[in-house]
Amino acid sequence: MDVISVIRTKRDKGELSPEQIDWVIDAYTRGEVADEQMSALAMAILLNGMDREEIARWTAAMIASGERMNFDSLSRPTADKHSTGGVGDKITLPLAPLVAACGAAVPQLSGRGLGHTGGTLDKLESIPGWRALLSNEEMLHVLDTTGAVICAAGDGLAPADKKLYALRDVTGTVEAIPLIASSIMSKKIAEGTGSLVLDVKVGTGAFMKNIDDARELASTMVALGTDSGVKTVALLTDMSTPLGLTAGNALEVRESVEVLAGGGPADVVELTIALAREMLDAAGVKDADPAKALADGSAMDVWRRMIAAQGGDPDATLPVAREQHVVTAPSTGVLTRLDAYDIGIAAWRLGAGRARKEDPVQAGAGVELHAKPGDTVTAGQPLLTLHTDTPEKFDYALKSLTDAWDIAEPGAKFTPNPIVLDRIA
Ligand code: URA
Repeated sequence: MDVISVIRTKRDKGELSPEQIDWVIDAYTRGEVADEQMSALAMAILLNGMDREEIARWTAAMIASGERMNFDSLSRPTADKHSTGGVGDKITLPLAPLVAACGAAVPQLSGRGLGHTGGTLDKLESIPGWRALLSNEEMLHVLDTTGAVICAAGDGLAPADKKLYALRDVTGTVEAIPLIASSIMSKKIAEGTGSLVLDVKVGTGAFMKNIDDARELASTMVALGTDSGVKTVALLTDMSTPLGLTAGNALEVRESVEVLAGGGPADVVELTIALAREMLDAAGVKDADPAKALADGSAMDVWRRMIAAQGGDPDATLPVAREQHVVTAPSTGVLTRLDAYDIGIAAWRLGAGRARKEDPVQAGAGVELHAKPGDTVTAGQPLLTLHTDTPEKFDYALKSLTDAWDIAEPGAKFTPNPIVLDRIA
């Protein structure tokens, strides 16, 4: 087999054979196919697509490039959640302990932020002492003893995806639905979860800007999971405005703890409970009430045990950025739009995110929202607070906010987007 014929097949809009796919993924993982050759193939896939059989085989080949985990020794059924990424999307933090408190085991392999979307591991690392890197044995131990674990995927899991995702990131080939679907699902299937709920975000702050693309991505992933024996369901959810009132690492941990304490912003609570119900249903756990587990403190108990089991101190004071800058409302009226992408870019520029994989993040940096779409605001009232340790970043962050909101006349009618836009099973 030679790589040039594989590239030519896809360049000329042909279908890759199972043998071509198996070979190219294996040869790329071993370093026999060069980065420039794989990036040509990824661009051909982005431009010409892959059919369902090709995507399934591509996913299987990426799974076969590494190890498969197994949770058969656990006494509870497993349920995992994956979000395609958004701004202020801290849902994993309250959700994993909540679902565990309701009776399922939650093995949550998570990632770091890149670009304008935050990463769950960066958020949790703002808790003093907390460790994202666990061996497979440690991961299983935390899962078995607390019911939930949130950690980084080990190097052995779908190594072909690790290499390919890093390459796509620097070659403009991330946004290909076949490549996104196979990348996410290869890791989730290799992880060994029995059921999976996908939170496919739609809107300015998401990968998928429109609902038709989100539906295609969701149904591709649901089919991949189902065909591999993983009970898979997807919710399409709104990402036109940030979730909750915070975007930034420690800021989002603080808000998640509020949710676990029975409070927190209504949209975060609503989505956490909707996803928890789907996960419990997919795992076959009957008669559990996630709203009750938030209210009675049982989800908080699991959170505290889970954080402590990974070296974190659940009572520690969270880091606060050294400098704040308040942005005020320029007029009085109804806030009708607060753009997720612009807020995400501002949080990123303030130091909450990274430009390159190896960059550090600031634990305290980010954006705090003082109003959400639908709220009435008064000229001069605080609309946003920007947080950073490096105040020279304020100007750069403010540049991303020049068209971040609309304020209509007082009393203007406003219809909010529903949080859950669709369900695909
Ligand atoms: N997340 C992934 O894991 N892979 C992608 O391709 C995109 C988002």
